[in-house]
Amino acid sequence: MSARLLDASARTSYDPFVDIDWAAPLDREKAYMPMERVSLYGTDLWRGLSEEQRIELSKHEMASIAGVGLWFEIILMQLLIRYAYDLDPRSPHAQYALTEVGDETRHSIMFAKAIARFDTPNYGPGKLLHNLGRVYKAVAGGPSMFAAVLVAEEATDRLQRSTMDDPAIQPLIRMVNRIHVIEEARHVRYAREEVVRGAPGLNRAELEWHRLATAATAIAVMDALVNPRVYKVIGVAPRVGREVARANPHFRETRRWMVEKVVEFLTETGMIGGPSRQLWRRAGLLR
Ligand SMILES: [Fe+2]
Ligand SMILES: [Fe+2]
Repeated sequence: MSARLLDASARTSYDPFVDIDWAAPLDREKAYMPMERVSLYGTDLWRGLSEEQRIELSKHEMASIAGVGLWFEIILMQLLIRYAYDLDPRSPHAQYALTEVGDETRHSIMFAKAIARFDTPNYGPGKLLHNLGRVYKAVAGGPSMFAAVLVAEEATDRLQRSTMDDPAIQPLIRMVNRIHVIEEARHVRYAREEVVRGAPGLNRAELEWHRLATAATAIAVMDALVNPRVYKVIGVAPRVGREVARANPHFRETRRWMVEKVVEFLTETGMIGGPSRQLWRRAGLLR
């Protein structure tokens, strides 16, 4: 499979410096993500916003998601480098891991350029997660590492896919998302294969440990996607915006929808199950 993924990478890879027209004007009337996926959609707060404010909030939420995605990609690069360190470099398996590092390098630059173009803050995951990530990328490994990577990749993938062919969405973000979706499809196949190969070899105690590590990482990433500071752009205090979003049934459904497919896969492969399944449920990510 790694050989096929290497072929596909050689055929279809993009360079953010040449494949995106960063100077193209932004359309003031177009949203940056489907409005029904914005965290406050459908709430009283939302009803009180002008169309312009809604577009502005969609921009800041998309920038936050891109910034957290970028943060996780840098973590992933280190995880993959540590993984490749122990592989035979002549194997397609090792070479694909290195190819994926190359993809993520370009993605991170692409997201960084998009955030800069939107002229929003670089929200990122917050100080605590930033520092926990420092430890995580130095120690994580095995099936839970690939399982957590899958959650981050597949959740953002689902949102990005929904913007690709939607003419109501800002053309620049559609192009960024299209490039990301095409290249991430290969990463998802690689990581899924790693979980399928790695999970059956775990004994009972290891399995529960990897389930717990998967749940903790996945929930941390999902909770971090929309930085509460985005609400400042519509004049709402971060704490208030966060509480309204958390209680918003539309947003809860969006979070479930984002992880729906990967949760199904992780349940089938045993990476969700046992006592830690309760964590997924409490986070609102399981039905
Ligand atoms: Fe990526
Ligand atoms: Fe990826």
